[in-house]
Amino acid sequence: MMSVSYMTHPLIRHKITLLRKESTSTNEFRKLVEEIAMLMGYEALSDLETQEINIKTPLEESKQPVISGKKLAVVPILRAGLGMVNGILALVPSARVGHIGLYRDPVTHEPHEYYCKLPEPIDQRQIVVVDPMLATGGSAVAAVDYIKEHGGQKIKFMSIIAAPKGVETLMKAHPDIQLYVGALDRELDDNAYIRPGLGDAGDRIFGTK
Ligand code: PRP
Ligand code: URA
Repeated sequence: MMSVSYMTHPLIRHKITLLRKESTSTNEFRKLVEEIAMLMGYEALSDLETQEINIKTPLEESKQPVISGKKLAVVPILRAGLGMVNGILALVPSARVGHIGLYRDPVTHEPHEYYCKLPEPIDQRQIVVVDPMLATGGSAVAAVDYIKEHGGQKIKFMSIIAAPKGVETLMKAHPDIQLYVGALDRELDDNAYIRPGLGDAGDRIFGTK
């Protein structure tokens, strides 16, 4: 069954507030997206599998836990998801990185795929899909569809800001994944932008307009 976790840590809430501000510069915005991804990743990865290994401390031989060998895959939805990748890699530097290129049609708001590449094999990996914005949910559903079509099974999805519609749509389409949301906002406007939101995440990360 799909579970949705809403972040409550004051540091995450504080940083999301700074992210929303119109006056936040591109440079600060990028840094904040990365930091929030790291803080959310710390929570989202709290159930990573561990295994015991034998080590030697300066005093004795000892069995101690390490993250088990199965590699993590971080999969950003392009472009804006790219901003979250280094935050996860700061926690798990050996993670592989896949990419799913989707853009929303400005009129229909439907996602269009333009590039996809996942690490192989994908079936045994813990996959963490990252995208700062979960608005209509169209991009998230298409990304998870693609990952499942290519054999992905253990899927977590992290979004910094979500609209109720996006959470509902993703939950209905993929009830077996775990969703982590930094902040749940009020609604979508007529252009399918999240309100109050933070504007266009991709444009704010890359300084485009
Ligand atoms: C944004 C965002 C998500 C998508 C969310 O990407 O990063 O991928 O919209 O909207 P949805 O839930 O309604 O599908 P956008 O299509 O603007 O592309 P970009 O990241 O390249 O700017
Ligand atoms: N994509 C964004 O970047 N912002 C929104 O509010 C909705 C979709």
